[in-house]
Amino acid sequence: MALSPQFLDEIRNRISVSDVVARRVKLARRGREFVGLSPFNKEKTPSFTVNDEKGFFHCFSSGEHGDIFAFLMKTEGLSFPESVEKLAAEVGLEVPQADPASQMREKRRASLQEIMEQAADWYSGELFKPGSKVALEYLRGRGLDEQTIKKFRLGYAPSGRGLLTQALGTGGITVDEMVACGLARKDEGGGGAPRDYFFSRIIFPITDRRGKVIAFGGRTMGSGQPKYLNSPETDLFHKGSVLYGVAQARGPARDAGSVIVAEGYMDVIALAQGGFTHSVAPLGTALTEAQIQELWRLADEPVLCFDGDKAGVRAAGRAALRALPLLKPGKSLAFALLPEGEDPDSMIVTRGPEALARVISRARPLVDVIWSLEVSAGKFDTPERQAALKRDLRTRVRDIADEEVGEFYRLAFDQRLERMFPRPDRYRGGSARGKGRWTPNGRQKPKKFGGFGSGMSGGSIGGLGQTHGDFDGLAERQEQALLALMIHHPSLVSGLTEIFAEIRLTSVRLDRMMREILNLLGSEPNLDSEGVRRHLIAIGNADLERLVQVVLSPSVYSTASFARPDAGEEEAERALHDILDWYGRRQVDLDRQDAERDLAADMTEAKEDRLFGILREQIKEDGLYSK
Ligand code: UTP
Ligand code: MN
Repeated sequence: MALSPQFLDEIRNRISVSDVVARRVKLARRGREFVGLSPFNKEKTPSFTVNDEKGFFHCFSSGEHGDIFAFLMKTEGLSFPESVEKLAAEVGLEVPQADPASQMREKRRASLQEIMEQAADWYSGELFKPGSKVALEYLRGRGLDEQTIKKFRLGYAPSGRGLLTQALGTGGITVDEMVACGLARKDEGGGGAPRDYFFSRIIFPITDRRGKVIAFGGRTMGSGQPKYLNSPETDLFHKGSVLYGVAQARGPARDAGSVIVAEGYMDVIALAQGGFTHSVAPLGTALTEAQIQELWRLADEPVLCFDGDKAGVRAAGRAALRALPLLKPGKSLAFALLPEGEDPDSMIVTRGPEALARVISRARPLVDVIWSLEVSAGKFDTPERQAALKRDLRTRVRDIADEEVGEFYRLAFDQRLERMFPRPDRYRGGSARGKGRWTPNGRQKPKKFGGFGSGMSGGSIGGLGQTHGDFDGLAERQEQALLALMIHHPSLVSGLTEIFAEIRLTSVRLDRMMREILNLLGSEPNLDSEGVRRHLIAIGNADLERLVQVVLSPSVYSTASFARPDAGEEEAERALHDILDWYGRRQVDLDRQDAERDLAADMTEAKEDRLFGILREQIKEDGLYSK
């Protein structure tokens, strides 16, 4: 029987041509079609088109065209049946077997699978025998109840070296079959009886999506090595494409709309018992592409759990990088970092399921992980290093095959770069501050305090030479106006010395002068304007004296009317509030940027709390001051 057209259509219905093609060719949408560079010819302008509605691709440069199967045949060198098989497996369909050879193969797989079921039954029977008390006690000691043990069909391979082999042999199963199943090893010395692959181990049956046993994992109860032993690769079992627990997790994952990915067998089982029935794990290796695709069949944004230690963070980074080329609109990964030294199993046992649920609910999106992977790698305190960061992020974006997802990643990274290294002109338009607010260039409220032009955005902290930040003449002029105001209206300042103490002027010299004034008013709050001026000069610092003269000069008064000696109390007060407000918000902004950098470099809960605290403060402030 040839493959029926209905069956081929069923596959075509489940996967689009653009999905298949996009793994190899970067596609851009153009109307109803997608276009890209031909995979068949080297070309600079795209001549390769895909039409999902018609189910065809066409390459104008090479004349190649066809459907999803043809695409795999032409680009991966598969035969037609192989390409059907591959795509059928991807979409979860079983190929009706056609030719005698593959019928034989399928029969053989079925019979191997049947043997695996028998073995699983045998192992689980052994677990409940009196002689296996240690094993059952071990599992109970790890907190598993009988229901869980049954649900995962846990078993025990006793210490005898040929017990399973014997049992299966009595049932008429040949040694070759047992070896093909990975259940026995032939005695290499020759002649002797075959030996069991697993002995003295707790047995974890590994199943396919439908719950059919295809392999086993075995754990020692002592300190023997290796701790876990997996079945060898067989016709049934390809480690890289299997997820442990998938059969049990499938339904719950679909119901919950999410799936949790842990690292080990015991994690999956403890998770399930703790109520997280939508949990799976790869088999001791990093997630493969096939496993990620399988996860996306269960949920859009699988949550990967990692130990919060260095190795865990590194593993999370690797998984993130692996996922980039595979991303699709709506399909991503999230990353939950557990407290250091914990896995989901230990977390549930020692801190309870609620604690784990909290960690999972705070899982970070993939974009964050990629970002911190790049940002935590170095310091970005020079233009060259900043440019290198931007370049590296761009490189990551290029790994993303999906055009749309890539576009939004580029946008997300650009926004973060902008926040990390803000451009001075971000403040020019004042849009970041909302409407009707005082803006540093004074464009919106020119009569009030004029602001600081560029350089006050707080991109660099710590200061260069004479300034506390980026600096330009305009900023200094504005700060001079502020000091003139302080000298002319000391009574306004007296009540606000604590708030003044918190702010930091851009010009170091003016900042020092401001602090002198605050000191003065701290000890003599009732000084009048003339008194302040006299005291400042009496300090006997020539620099300061010169500065007082500069500040109290017509050129400063012309900067802002509130700076003039004859400015009314009310005008001065309004200006002062605006200025303090601006400095206050700038400080919060600087703190926030610092906290963001800090968190990006090393994600801990404490650092996250700090950032959230600042964000809350920022929202509160903005709410408080917006008019
Ligand atoms: P872990 O060493 O983290 O073990 O291995 P675990 O899952 O926490 O197990 P317990 O709690 O000590 O029982 C994680 C996974 O890596 C694979 C297994 O799949 C295991 O579940 N692994 C580990 C191996 O394949 N071989 C090993 O020797 C160890
Ligand atoms: Mn563990």
